[in-house]
Amino acid sequence: MNKEPKISVIGVGYVGLCTAVGLASKGYHVYASDIDSEKIAKINKGIPPFFEPGLQEKLAESIKKSNLEGLVNQTDKAIQQTGFTYVAVGTPSKPDGSIDLKYIKSAAKNIGKALKHKNNYHITIIKSTVVPGTTQNVVLPLLERESKKTCGKDFGLCMNPEFLRQGSAFQDTLNTDRVVIGSYDKKSGDKLEDLYKDFYSPRIPPIIRTTLSTAELIKYASNAMLATKISFINTIANICEQIPGADVKVIAQAMGLDKRIGSLFLDAGLGYGGSCFPKDVKALIACAKAFGYDSKLLESAEEVNKHQPLKAVQFAKKELKNLNGKKIAILGLAFKPDTDDMREARVIPIINQLIAEGASVTAYDPVAKQTAYAIFQDKIQYASSALECLKGADCCILTTEWPEFTKLKPANFSDNMKTPILIDGRRIFNPEEFQKKLKFIAIGLGQ
Ligand code: UDX
Repeated sequence: MNKEPKISVIGVGYVGLCTAVGLASKGYHVYASDIDSEKIAKINKGIPPFFEPGLQEKLAESIKKSNLEGLVNQTDKAIQQTGFTYVAVGTPSKPDGSIDLKYIKSAAKNIGKALKHKNNYHITIIKSTVVPGTTQNVVLPLLERESKKTCGKDFGLCMNPEFLRQGSAFQDTLNTDRVVIGSYDKKSGDKLEDLYKDFYSPRIPPIIRTTLSTAELIKYASNAMLATKISFINTIANICEQIPGADVKVIAQAMGLDKRIGSLFLDAGLGYGGSCFPKDVKALIACAKAFGYDSKLLESAEEVNKHQPLKAVQFAKKELKNLNGKKIAILGLAFKPDTDDMREARVIPIINQLIAEGASVTAYDPVAKQTAYAIFQDKIQYASSALECLKGADCCILTTEWPEFTKLKPANFSDNMKTPILIDGRRIFNPEEFQKKLKFIAIGLGQ
């Protein structure tokens, strides 16, 4: 017997599918609707359309128990059959960095149309990351216009941002530091709060109740803070590189022990990538600008991040003088470990620059080879192991801190490479051990 009410999710990317499977695994009946029929066909067979640890097993179980049902673009059914609808469609960036709301608008219109002939109180929950004001000023008017009903009286509206990290998105869905519920009307907020109390029982996280726009801004402020923290430590890393004996890794460890600072997101490296930080920082800058405020701090965080990956190429050039005809081994293609996602991966500008300078690139990643092929095709070579990648290379650049790379020893580099030059872009190797055996250059390490 499933729990009530039934729940629908519109848009099954990382956020939508993890939410859908999370709810289904807790005994709710969930309809997951998406415009992509191939995605839905996979989901209905119990296969996630992307790699995410722990998701496959729970998805397969939910499909087997009939707790989850994928629908191809059937918003009407999703609304009529359920009491809550999560909107988790994509919110990509426009060329000027501002957010593109076309999928949100289309979802809101379809939900509004379905609400027109629904009698029960239905709650729409915006989970997609949207700039402050969107739920109130874009979603709400579309719902009211299409349904010819009144928000707060005939149906409810909430904004409930997600804080999932790729690679642990499903675990993050099941365990969160906090739940943020922005609501237009108290009744909707109360009902959503009850749903989360049941979902997380017995370990209920802090639940913050607020307005729609504060909820929207909490998501951007959190991501902008983390992105700024990364650009901050990368700035310290850049300073360290000018000072013999200075090491950003030790500095970050010591800083992190100060409770006011905290140790997380202080790993210096080639900068932040992924589907959220770059896009969200840009969108917040553009949103603030539209309100007449210049976010200088965020612009600087972005600027630091833009230059950070190319430092790896500069290091290589400094050692090899000319990159033309040189063989460069790249360890890591995914934007971070435990994912095959390469959106805004820092390795992309690195490889493009290496190719532009005439280098021959061979890359290895435990899971992201196919994603990389869609970007680079035959412009680079793909190795099937780290050691194969290193064979005959003039220089190696480590760009993703996959656990299997941490096991590599200096001899793996010196025995396989033509000239053993290693650029550690993620600070995973011990400088003392590596500096003795090969030319070892690392982000934030004064030479
Ligand atoms: C992020 C947020 O953490 C999550 O809350 C939000 O909802 C979506 O965006 P994600 O993009 O999956 O999640 O990855 P995250 O682990 O946050 O890393 C983002 C990028 O920052 C990666 O490229 C990573 O390599 C980089 N990073 C992270 C650093 O360079 N240094 C750090 O200390 C931490």
